[in-house]
Amino acid sequence: MAVQISPSILAADFARLADEAAAVPNADWLHVDVMDYHFVPNLTIGLPVVEALRKATSTPLDCHLMIDDPDRWAPQYAEAGAGSVTIHAEAAKGPIRTLREIRALGARAGLALNPATPVEPYEDLMGEVDMLLLMTVEPGFGGQKFLDGVLPKVRRAREMIQRHGGRVWLQVDGGVDAGTIERCAEAGADVFVAGSAVYGASDPASAVDALRAAASRKNA
Ligand code: DX5
Ligand code: ZN
Repeated sequence: MAVQISPSILAADFARLADEAAAVPNADWLHVDVMDYHFVPNLTIGLPVVEALRKATSTPLDCHLMIDDPDRWAPQYAEAGAGSVTIHAEAAKGPIRTLREIRALGARAGLALNPATPVEPYEDLMGEVDMLLLMTVEPGFGGQKFLDGVLPKVRRAREMIQRHGGRVWLQVDGGVDAGTIERCAEAGADVFVAGSAVYGASDPASAVDALRAAASRKNA
C-alpha cells in the first residue's frame, strides 16, 4: 500500500490559501474541510472557495463534506473539480445514489464514519466507494486529541477492505501527527489527513515528508 498524505487546510491561513497550498508541493492531496454549522458545530468554507482553490493549485483536492444533505451538495463539489468527494454516512439519505453520482462526475467517492459509527453495516457498500474515511476525533474542529479507541475499527476496516480486493483506500482524519501516525499505519490506514501537524509546523513540507516516512515504516 502506498502511503498518501493529505494536509488539511483547516489549519492553514484562510487569507492565503494559494500560498498555503504551494507550501506543501510534496502532498498527495489537499484536504478541504467543508462544515455547515448543522452536521457539525462549526462553519468553514464551501463551493466558491473550492472552485478558487482548484485554479490556484495543481494538487488534487480531497473534499470532506461535514454537512447535512450531502446528497444535494456533493455532486457540485465533483463538478467544481474536486479529485475526491467524501460524504458522511450519518448525513446521507441516499448514499449509494450520491456515491455513484460523484463517480459519474469523474471524482473519487469517499464515505466517512464518525468515531462512534460502526463500520460493519457498510461492508456491502465497499463496491460503491473508492475511499473509507474513519474519523479519529469527533468532526468539527482541528487540533483535537487523537482517539485511540478508533484503532480497532481501523483494523477491522482494513480486514474488510482486503476481503473485497484491497482496492479501497483507508483514510484517517483527526489528531494525526508524528506521535499517532505510526499506530494508524500499523492498523492499516494508507491515507493520512493532518492539519495542525503540517500547518502548525515551521516547515510544512518537511512535516509532510516526516509524516510520510513515519507511516511508511509501519505500512509495508
Ligand atoms: C476535523 C477535520 C479534520 C481536521 C484535522 O473535523 O475533519 O480534517 O482538519 O485537524 P488536525 O489534524 O489538527 O486534527
Ligand atoms: Zn477532515
